[in-house]
Amino acid sequence: MLINPCDCVARRDVLCGGGAAAFSAIVTALVGTARPVRAEPISGSVPEVDRLAVRVLVDSYQFAVAPSRKLSNVDIDHFGWGIGAGRPPGKTLVSEFGLSMHVESRRGTETRRVLIDFGFTPDSIINNFALLGGDPAALDALVLSHGHYDHFGGLAGFLQASKGQLKPKLPIFVGGEEAFCARTWTAPPARGDFGALDRKALEDANLTVTYAEGPALVADHGFTTGQIRQASFERLLSPSAMTIGVEHGMGCYADRFPEDLRTQSVVPDQFRHEIATAFNLKGRGLVVVTSCSHRGVVNAIKQAQAASGISKVHAVIGGFHLAPYPPDYVKQTVAAFKDIDVDYVIPLHCSGEPFYEMAKAEIPAKLLRSYTGTRFVFGEGAGT
Ligand SMILES: [Fe+2]
Repeated sequence: MLINPCDCVARRDVLCGGGAAAFSAIVTALVGTARPVRAEPISGSVPEVDRLAVRVLVDSYQFAVAPSRKLSNVDIDHFGWGIGAGRPPGKTLVSEFGLSMHVESRRGTETRRVLIDFGFTPDSIINNFALLGGDPAALDALVLSHGHYDHFGGLAGFLQASKGQLKPKLPIFVGGEEAFCARTWTAPPARGDFGALDRKALEDANLTVTYAEGPALVADHGFTTGQIRQASFERLLSPSAMTIGVEHGMGCYADRFPEDLRTQSVVPDQFRHEIATAFNLKGRGLVVVTSCSHRGVVNAIKQAQAASGISKVHAVIGGFHLAPYPPDYVKQTVAAFKDIDVDYVIPLHCSGEPFYEMAKAEIPAKLLRSYTGTRFVFGEGAGT
């Protein structure tokens, strides 16, 4: 039996990741390669990268004729049509309510590529990944931010389409066993089945499922924050419920949960397993990739700061999950971005138009617009 994740699930404390180091090594040895392993915790300072390119692979919409541009310290490359010299028009980017991002980092002569989240449908990620020049064989790690279908729905199909091309034992980072629970969407507009992560598809693709409840290194260059502590004004809404248990090989194992949850069958989602991903960009600060921010975008930033010991934040990019909140709450988030003095704020996916409008009015120089296919390049050689 896999030992229950340490008390950090209940404590929601960043210290747990580091404290789990020896424990992690033991668990890894015990469970073998076919079972989940524990991520390598951060020991000492986080790595520094020279350059970072974040490509939005899948998001809600695209504006094909948006001009690319350079600002101070950042290049913004929008993707146009799927056309090119010498070939007829064919495929174009597919947009949907799902999120996927590709991050390429450079450190000296070393390059690493990480895919974070996988969209709602296989069609979008497979199509966009190929059209934008992605190479499955070049991926060094996968990260699933949380167990919602709009983030993992495309994964099984992407793995199937990439069969035989991915690196053997390619790690996929998740924030814990909770990521595997079957979920029901319980918020408006409609209640219904919200899917479950296909454990067998991960096994068939020869991935190494890697639990990162605490801060952990990703592909030598980046790090996941570990589970996100609630340390700000932000309030968690629970738009889904998770079923604890396994049926026909799908779902999550109750014995891997803390005791208070083991005996329950259906519980409102608290997103204890949600993780953000971050990079330490030389001379600039952190670039935080938030994915969906169910536990709060400010909390995600604070967790990245705590995990790395770095307070300067160069950019925050991802879903900020502000759509369901009232204007006062959105205003507090904008104020927090000012307070933290984030250089660039790039809202995607579930951030919502009210946030965009308010940020445009209050922090116009920080706010960057993104579409499906947009690439943001930070660091060495980027910007004017
Ligand atoms: Fe989402």
